[in-house]
Amino acid sequence: MLLGVNIDHIAVLREARKVADPDPLDALAICKRAGADQITIHLREDRRHMHDSDARNIITLSSLPVNLECAIAPSMIDIACRLRPHRVTLVPEKREEVTTEGGLAVTGEQPRLKEAIKRLHQEEIEVSLFIDPTLDAVRASLTLGVEWIEFHTGKYANIYAMLYSNLAKTHHSIPELELSRKILKQMLDDELRNLRLLSCDAMELRLKVAAGHGLNYNNVNDIVAIETIEELNIGQSIVARSVYTGLEQAILDMKAKMIR
Ligand code: PXP
Repeated sequence: MLLGVNIDHIAVLREARKVADPDPLDALAICKRAGADQITIHLREDRRHMHDSDARNIITLSSLPVNLECAIAPSMIDIACRLRPHRVTLVPEKREEVTTEGGLAVTGEQPRLKEAIKRLHQEEIEVSLFIDPTLDAVRASLTLGVEWIEFHTGKYANIYAMLYSNLAKTHHSIPELELSRKILKQMLDDELRNLRLLSCDAMELRLKVAAGHGLNYNNVNDIVAIETIEELNIGQSIVARSVYTGLEQAILDMKAKMIR
């Protein structure tokens, strides 16, 4: 299973002080050494973390394939076409969000998406769509002719966190708590089943399947077990761990979790 390391969070730390360090460019050699398969970066329209110069330098200097996430705005597609990364993942963007909150409206944005995908394909850039795990979104992606889809795993990660982080800390056996645990466990199983079935459908339709958002060292196991998911893009949890272990060890730890 492939790992794309999302290094935006290194730029987030730098931008907290608006200084030069840490420079996300320094992560490239470490990611490669640790066995990452891809570098993932998000150039946001508001340039909140990565700057144009980061994206340009990373795409030019990375010996690993670079997956550039960006919005479908024509100005962002202009940049992507100029920079020519290995892959572009089209993502929805809202100015006020803390992070990408949901998948693309693939069924509602068809003309704009078609145009963006056509332009990227003309530059021989492979295209992925960051979508919610629904059958409609998978079908719409197929009609758009992209090579990849990436399932937004935020809902799965949120349910997992509610079930294991918060409720698990309360050891009392209160009936209401037991009921909440049971409901959350059912929701988690349903979401995993949904991801498993849709990944299978997508693979049969010859779409390559990635997944990402909110994945960490605890919740990643059940996603790794879905054999039809080829790649994970993970950022926050790896960069968070790297503060204590160093980036190389944090990536090695995640890669170890991803062995099937
Ligand atoms: N994949 C996509 C398309 C993303 O936009 C992001 C960042 O939100 C990620 C993966 C990584 O998410 P996280 O930082 O929660 O691991």
